Amino acid sequence: MCGIFAYLNYLTPKTRREVLEYLVTGLKRLEYRGYDSAGVAVDSDDGKGITLVKQTGKVKILEDAIKEFMTGHDIDTPISTHCGISHTRWATHGVPSDLNSHPQRSDEENSFVVVHNGIITNYKDVKKFLEKRGYRFESETDTEIIAKLVHHLYLQHPNYSFRELVEQVIQQMEGAFALAFKSKHFPGECVATRRGSPLLVGIKTKTRLATDHIPILYGKDQLFILEHRPHGAGREVPMIPRTESTSEFQPLEDKEVEYFFASDASAVIEHTNRVIYLEDDDVAAVKDGALSIHRLKKSLDDKHAREIITLKMEIQEIMKGSYEYFMQKEIFEQPESVINTMRGRVNLVNNTVTLGGIKEYIPEIKRCRRLMLIGCGTSYHSAVATRQLLEELTELPVMVELASDFLDRNTPIFRDDVCFFISQSGETADTLMALRYCKQRGALIVGITNTVGSSICRESHCGVHINAGPEIGVASTKAYTSQFISLVMFGLVMSEDRISLQTRRQEILEGLKNLDSQIKEVLKLDLQVLEIAKDLFQQKSLLIMGRGYNFATCMEGALKVKELTYMHCEGIMAGELKHGPLALVDDMMPIVMIVMRDCVYNKTINAIQQVKARGGQPIVICEENDKETMQFAHKVLEVPKTVDCLQGVLTVIPMQLLSYHIAVLRGCNVDCPRNLAKSVTVE
Ligand code: F6R
Repeated sequence: MCGIFAYLNYLTPKTRREVLEYLVTGLKRLEYRGYDSAGVAVDSDDGKGITLVKQTGKVKILEDAIKEFMTGHDIDTPISTHCGISHTRWATHGVPSDLNSHPQRSDEENSFVVVHNGIITNYKDVKKFLEKRGYRFESETDTEIIAKLVHHLYLQHPNYSFRELVEQVIQQMEGAFALAFKSKHFPGECVATRRGSPLLVGIKTKTRLATDHIPILYGKDQLFILEHRPHGAGREVPMIPRTESTSEFQPLEDKEVEYFFASDASAVIEHTNRVIYLEDDDVAAVKDGALSIHRLKKSLDDKHAREIITLKMEIQEIMKGSYEYFMQKEIFEQPESVINTMRGRVNLVNNTVTLGGIKEYIPEIKRCRRLMLIGCGTSYHSAVATRQLLEELTELPVMVELASDFLDRNTPIFRDDVCFFISQSGETADTLMALRYCKQRGALIVGITNTVGSSICRESHCGVHINAGPEIGVASTKAYTSQFISLVMFGLVMSEDRISLQTRRQEILEGLKNLDSQIKEVLKLDLQVLEIAKDLFQQKSLLIMGRGYNFATCMEGALKVKELTYMHCEGIMAGELKHGPLALVDDMMPIVMIVMRDCVYNKTINAIQQVKARGGQPIVICEENDKETMQFAHKVLEVPKTVDCLQGVLTVIPMQLLSYHIAVLRGCNVDCPRNLAKSVTVE
């Protein structure tokens, strides 16, 4: 989804060339989120106005346009204080175009400019309101109303601070947003805020910060300037009381400081690892080099300060290194990422598993009525993959739910339910809404996320970080295997004191111990998978069949193929073959079958025979040296054997590789598939 990056240097002289380079690099780091156009706003040559450069297409095209702009402009004079904002847009309202790209502006003078991630649901009302006051709109975006509304308020209340104006604006906004503002009336200032979409502030100083906490400043209640009516343009209430006048908080020992506002940490990590994750309705303002964080109202569960945290991420983690694509790198990182997921948690000497983030809640979880595992896409598949094991190890009913469907059904939730929310990004709107729904109903909320500081992480009662490291490729790979292992570890924690389950636990722990070396073995299949991909890449359709512990691999494999190659692909539960899908099978239909020597082996062999009887020529993923199974196969991919419930970690990897190779052969954009975004922050 859209990406925001803003940069403010205070008393740290930078040329506009440098500022523009920072902005472009920031946007490049956010490219993986998915976008279709991009733009920047910096001070104009005389420092009195704002220059916008916006382009449809990739950041590279924007970069070229910026280079063109640089000729003939004074961009090499150092400026001691400057604010620049930038954006990658993923079209929601209006097609990808230069005009619809952000920053959006208030007027032809570019008095106020804004970048926005999210969707404003009441923009039509606000637009009518502004049109009645003479504003003419140039884009089809919902965002333009924000720039124009802040301008309108400025004209009405010229003595308001920039931050106060933004506070007024966001009170009129319904929907989800992260916003960063710049204005020619407030040079060297930046105001940013969020509700429902992620935003963080990075801080870089030469010396240590004086504090690790920025206290929150509260305002007084505000009046609405618009009365929203379903079909009306809204009515203006004449007076807006100002927020309480608060002294700005100066958090820093030294005055020279640089600030970075970004949708996620990958855009700031090369500058600083000191960040604050903003909460919903926080308004962060930088004025005279001081950062202050404001909230309009105090609510009961508000903390008094926002903590400056130190990120552990390294810059190499977000670079491709010697790989051609991030996805490829992330597939090949899995031997290490699974170890990182288990590090400090799985103790193979005394056979214990400790999950620090949920430890205190285990007694409560053991008393619950049922476990619910909720997520979207790949994260949902990790729940499907581990459900059977969790039922076995916890002896509790386990429901797995797609977050969107769960919400559509208004699923009954009770106080003694424990609800797991699984999300790589921790920002997926449907999953987050489902979390809030369950929280309101009193359930215990457990987050399983990969992104420190994400909304799901912060809004959960407790949770497990999967520690897979940044995942940049839009298609999720290493997050899946780490989610899988996190859920397995949870099962092991829950069964620690069950005598009857000790042998089972022991074999799973053994399996975990060998997983990294077995993944390395599977990755050696890469060239073999490439050969299979060469046979398949011109096909229209692919079926992936399996059952039991490996059904999740079929669904996940099919999702990977669909999203990366745009080829039709279906994951089919082999037990369902006779109930319909068998009609698809003939000697032309490409089929992959996963046949492992687990408790459903005979049934899966039955399915493969049915496929063969209809002329099908299955590519079989089976255990190493399983000659008996191989006789049914047209082609074989052999993976090492592990314990049945972990086998899915190994069988999914050939599918990740297959989708990757087919995508490359078909000339698809592997890291940014069309129409998709990494972090789906809108419903
Ligand atoms: C598929 C994929 C998506 C995500 C889904 C949920 O490769 O990446 O299906 O799994 O959008 O995203 P998270 O896990 O961030 O909640």
